Amino acid sequence: MKYDYYLFDFDGTVADTGEGIRRSVAYSLEKMGFPPLNEATLSRFIGPPLHDSYMEFCGMDDEQAERAIALYRERYVDIGLYESHLYPGMAMLLRALKRGGAWVAIASAKPTFMLQRLAKHFGIDKYLDAISGTGLDRHSADKRDLILAALPEGADLSRACMCGDRRFDVEAAAGLGMAGVGADYGYSMPGELAGAGACAVFGALSDMAQYLLGGELPRGLFLTLEGSDGCGKSTQLALLREYLEKRGFELVLTREPGGCPISERIREVILSLDSKGMSDECEALLYAASRVEHVREVVEPALKCGKIVICDRFLDSSIAYQAYGRELGEDFIRQINTPAIRLAKPDRTLLLTLDRAQARRRLAQGAPLDRLELEKEDFFARVQAGYEALAKAEPERIAVIDASRGIDEVFEAVKAAVDEVL
Ligand code: TYD
Repeated sequence: MKYDYYLFDFDGTVADTGEGIRRSVAYSLEKMGFPPLNEATLSRFIGPPLHDSYMEFCGMDDEQAERAIALYRERYVDIGLYESHLYPGMAMLLRALKRGGAWVAIASAKPTFMLQRLAKHFGIDKYLDAISGTGLDRHSADKRDLILAALPEGADLSRACMCGDRRFDVEAAAGLGMAGVGADYGYSMPGELAGAGACAVFGALSDMAQYLLGGELPRGLFLTLEGSDGCGKSTQLALLREYLEKRGFELVLTREPGGCPISERIREVILSLDSKGMSDECEALLYAASRVEHVREVVEPALKCGKIVICDRFLDSSIAYQAYGRELGEDFIRQINTPAIRLAKPDRTLLLTLDRAQARRRLAQGAPLDRLELEKEDFFARVQAGYEALAKAEPERIAVIDASRGIDEVFEAVKAAVDEVL
């Protein structure tokens, strides 16, 4: 790791909070009968203390600025706060820094209670050692005080950096003898950060992440969903996608067999009713072939640049369906899948379980059955046994989730299992 202490400004550095701030400033001006500001000027309110901005950009006096802030908050606290999103890749960066053993904190001129709310809302609170903001009554907090309050006592400032998108951040860092890292993807003016003495300036968060981590991008996370046909994976996948996107993770959703053009073509061959009579070995090799292509083309590149890959079925399906269902044995299946699993292994697998009668009822209501879904009952009993054996052998990785319950209840379990690895 490049530093021991990593501090971040919030607005324009961790999250794009612009929309909520602009709209709430516009609201306060309208209520006070001040002329409206254009978007560019409204954007200049992002970052510096509000009090100063109202005086500078609207010509308000002290008292008017006070009133404007009160009106701003009226809208911002309940509405504007949530008109924001984390910069894609930020959650993964904070996670990687925390896992690397660093001290990670926020130092922002936003009121502390808002920062706490937002950190919780985005689920990044668990990566943060400290959240240092202002009290409600402090309008122009000195950034240096905010930074010092975000550090543990006795921290060696020469091992600390402050990342921010405005000159206040960088200048305060320099004043304290810390590295000031410029986040030029936020709300800085051209040349502002370099001019303020930033030790490095980055126009893309991915470049800044690489620098902060000492040359490496945080590796992403590989999640897989498993279960017998009809267990409701698709519904849970859609919910999981929404949940993780809201938390600012960059996602790649994919599936097996398939997930890239060549593997999708192999999928057609495997699942088509025209392939009736295909030998079990051929089937297993086709799944393995489609997997290695998919991992190489899609999964591994996405993990390398810090994304979360969610894959609908992976190697465990081949163990359950081909090793157990087709009785080809686990050794053979693992062997033919070596090229794929050398590149990527799931960090967490969600195994949705459902008794066969219920699964059949669900399947009967859906699309026409494919070649695999038309197999006999003893085949599915062996698949089931395969999954049970896997879950028993790797309880750390595989979370078994009872999918016979309602959608929301199942999703609570899915979320809990994913949160554990985040
Ligand atoms: P799909 O329509 O994706 O099924 P589901 O919606 O249930 O995931 O079809 C995939 C079928 O392929 C499914 O029956 C399971 C089977 N399969 C294997 O037998 N081995 C494998 O390695 C994989 C990935 C899938």
